[in-house]
Order: sequence, then C-alpha cells, then structure tokens
Amino acid sequence: MYLTQLDIHQVRNLYEVKIKPSKRCNYIFGANASGKTSVLEAIYLLSVARSFRTTHIKHVISHNKPYLQVFARIENNINNENTALGLERSAQKTRIRINGSDIKQVSELSSLLPVQIINPDVHKLLEQGPKYRRQFIDWGVFHVEHDFLQAWQQYYRVLKQRNAALRKKQVKKSITLWDEQLIQYAKIITLSRENYIAGFISVFNNYVEKLMGLSVKIEYQRGWNSELSFTETLKHSFEKDIFRGFTSLGPHRADLEISHEGIPVQNSFSRGQQKLLVCAMRLAQISHLKVETNQQSILLVDDLAAELDIQHRQRLIELLIDTQAQLFVTATEQNSFVLPHEIESKMFHVEHGVLKEVVQ
Ligand SMILES: Nc1ncnc2c1ncn2[C@@H]1O[C@H](COP(=O)(O)OP(=O)(O)OP(=O)(O)O)[C@@H](O)[C@H]1O
Ligand SMILES: [Mg+2]
Repeated sequence: MYLTQLDIHQVRNLYEVKIKPSKRCNYIFGANASGKTSVLEAIYLLSVARSFRTTHIKHVISHNKPYLQVFARIENNINNENTALGLERSAQKTRIRINGSDIKQVSELSSLLPVQIINPDVHKLLEQGPKYRRQFIDWGVFHVEHDFLQAWQQYYRVLKQRNAALRKKQVKKSITLWDEQLIQYAKIITLSRENYIAGFISVFNNYVEKLMGLSVKIEYQRGWNSELSFTETLKHSFEKDIFRGFTSLGPHRADLEISHEGIPVQNSFSRGQQKLLVCAMRLAQISHLKVETNQQSILLVDDLAAELDIQHRQRLIELLIDTQAQLFVTATEQNSFVLPHEIESKMFHVEHGVLKEVVQ
C-alpha cells in the first residue's frame, strides 16, 4: 500500500499542502517548527483518525479553524487498485470517506492503511504501562487476522459489563453471568496473540542482531498465571475482583517483557539502544505483515537522527528501505544520512508549513 497523493488541510501549521509522494522513500527536512511532524501526524490521522501526539483533536486542527481534512489516494501493492480516502475532523464530528462513501468504522481505514511510527518518544513503548505494548501486539494481530478485531471488541464489551456488576457489588450470579462469554473471547484473543508472537519473534531477533549486534529475550505474558486456565483464574480471583471492583486478570492485562541478560531492557539499555530496540520491533512487525499477507505498510520516521550515531542511522535507514514499506522520514538537515542511489526517492523541504519538492 502506498500513498500516491496526499492533501492536508488545516492540520496544525499546514493550511494547504498537496504532494505526490514517492512510492518508496520520502525525505522531509526543515528547521524546527517548520511543520515536519505535522506532515506525519496528518498521515497517521488518516490511518486511525486520531493523533499520536495528543488526545485533544482541537490542538491538531489549525488555530481558529473549525475542522481539519486529510485526503489521500492510495495504491494497493497487491492488485494495483486505487482507493480514495478522506478524513474530516472537527471538535464534534469525525467523517470518514472511502471512494466517496461515508464509513462508520475507523477500523476500515486502518485495515486499508497499515501505518507505523518511529519517533523520538519510542522508548516510551518500553517504559510506559503495558497498555502500549498490548497496542503494539494488537496492531500486528489485527492486520494479520481480521477476525481478531471482533473478538477484541466483544471481549471489552463483556468485560465492561462484568466490571460494572463488580463495581455495583451485585450478587455473585449477576457477575459470573458474564464469565462464559468472557472466557470464550479471551481464548480467541490469547490464541491469536500467541500465534502472532510465535511468528514475529524470529523476525524480531534477526533485526535486533542486525541493528544492535546482541540478542534479547522477548516473552508474552497473557495477563494471568499461565499454569491456570482462565476459567480457574476467574474463580480464584473472584473475591479479589469483588473487593477491587473490577476484573483483575485476563487478556486486558497482557504484556510483553523484553530483557537482556536477565534484566528488563527499560532498566538497562541506553536511550539509543532503547530506540534501536523499538525500531527492531516496528521493522519486524511490518516485515512479518509483508510475509504473512503481502501487504506493505507505511512507515513514518520522525527525526530519525535523534539519539543515533551516524553508523546506526545509516544501518537503520538501509533496513527501513529493505522492508519495501513506503517511508516518510523527517530530519532537520538535508544530509542527515545518505539514501542508497538506486532507491526511488523524493525530497521535500518544509518552511512555515509549506512543502516544496527539492529536485535532486
Ligand atoms: N493547532 C495549531 N495551529 C497552528 N499551528 C500550530 C498548531 N499546533 C502547533 N502549531 C505550530 O505548528 C508548527 C509546526 O510544528 P511541528 O511540530 O510540525 O514542527 P517540526 O517541523 O516537527 O519541528 P521540530 O523540528 O522542532 O520537531 C509549530 O510552530 C507549532 O507551534
Ligand atoms: Mg518535529
């Protein structure tokens, strides 16, 4: 999948941007505050209808404007089919259009447009709560197994009901009433995630070795003691759940633990190493997706140079290019790294929210 056209309207300081990106590599450079991250934000918005920088859409819409719009034409790398995608967001409303028809589910956008981002915040994936690592796994599972989304949505719907019953301290029967469905969806989610991780690990290990010259151990924690079934777990933790007012164990508590020589990487790796590790995770996801479904992703790399020395930058850009993903890479300098000559690429200079293609 690649963007062949991208129109951005009223996203931060980008009032009217229209570009025809390269199918392979787009290098966007400009001074601080010129609008580089905003370009990536617009592409990300088109995939998931929300920002990676803020939960408040009003901050993303240009000041004093009522809405933002992002429009793109995408070409499918498998069948060369063209699709027009449009997103309009105001403070109150989200409107999504695919080939001119209104669409209700954001997941329809996401499944057409697998977008990954690597930005200077990436170490947060390792340092912050497990929610972010679950999102990481679920991105992969969602794109590889389309049935997963339904099981996931149903699981959370049932979980919400069970938690409401626990919170209201309802009688036991009204709480356990939800268990059968919860167990059924938990099984699908856990199996899908474990299958996914099993396929992902070897690709990931390979990238860690290539990027960092070392090896790490990655383990999926399913969200409860794996020696017990989920049915047993719900029984055992019933009193605790009543006391706490929510379901304390289950796939909604799953996590990924990554360690090097027995120590969690978030406690032992330098910032640069953490960034390289997360890059290996993202690279592995898009390569794995390509192998499993032939689907190509779009990879947004904001400020690639941050935290990385010149050799690591160069190695990373070569591996990024190797994935065949469509790349949008930003940097403050025109020559932060060298793109291989044989790669079809375009360079854009951003100044005060205006993008101009630099003819190389
Ligand atoms: N809602 C908004 N409306 C208009 N301008 C905004 C809005 N939000 C942020 N800006 C401005 O948009 C400009 C571009 O921001 P952006 O983060 O894209 O810059 P950048 O090129 O990535 O900079 P850096 O190199 O520092 O990361 C900034 O001057 C910022 O203050
Ligand atoms: Mg930026």
